[in-house]
Amino acid sequence: MPEAALVAYATHTGSTAEVATAIAEELRARGLHVDLAEVTAAESVRDYQAVVLGSAVNGGRWLPEALEFVKNNQDALRTIPVAVFSVHIMNAGDDERSRRKRTAYLDEVRRIIRPVDEAFFLGIGPDPKKDSWLARWFFRRFGGAGEGDCRDWAKIRDWARGVLVQQLRTQAGTGSQQNDLTVALGERPR
Ligand SMILES: Cc1cc2nc3c(=O)[nH]c(=O)nc-3n(C[C@H](O)[C@H](O)[C@H](O)COP(=O)(O)O)c2cc1C
Repeated sequence: MPEAALVAYATHTGSTAEVATAIAEELRARGLHVDLAEVTAAESVRDYQAVVLGSAVNGGRWLPEALEFVKNNQDALRTIPVAVFSVHIMNAGDDERSRRKRTAYLDEVRRIIRPVDEAFFLGIGPDPKKDSWLARWFFRRFGGAGEGDCRDWAKIRDWARGVLVQQLRTQAGTGSQQNDLTVALGERPR
């Protein structure tokens, strides 16, 4: 039986769900059995060998249901590799201030679990056709990265294929013996 991974996500307007779907597709393409579920619908994580958990960022933090999921499943999540991704639209720069602010989106998560990897993906910004110029001005003034759909699908899929797979492989392989997840990830060319 192939090893199983859970890709769980929290979303308000749907963009994080689509990011999670792309990640799940990439993992499935590598031969993993992947369940994809909203955090509110996800079953116990105990049956999985790895978890990828993502949330939209709202008000500088993960959505409450995503944090609730981490709290409720913390015991199990501490025993398997957990990679996390955040979908956001502010603080996307390479400067120190942006990096510090977006890193802080995960402060509450890191107090509970220690993710093997953290990714930050741009989501959806203000709609130039619907949102007022004033709202868009404030948005840019306070660090908004872009308008409309800013998702970089190549970056998202690349993370799922490469960095994420490396992390899961490394973590899964740190036990006394390689398990099927290690083998499944290791056998397939990138
Ligand atoms: C009410 C609201 C608050 C937001 N707060 C933040 C924030 O604090 N930091 C940030 O980087 N992005 C913020 N965003 C941008 C969202 O994270 C972004 O639009 C994301 O794509 C939404 O994901 P979803 O479609 O899965 O809900 C906010 C968006 C909304 C609508």
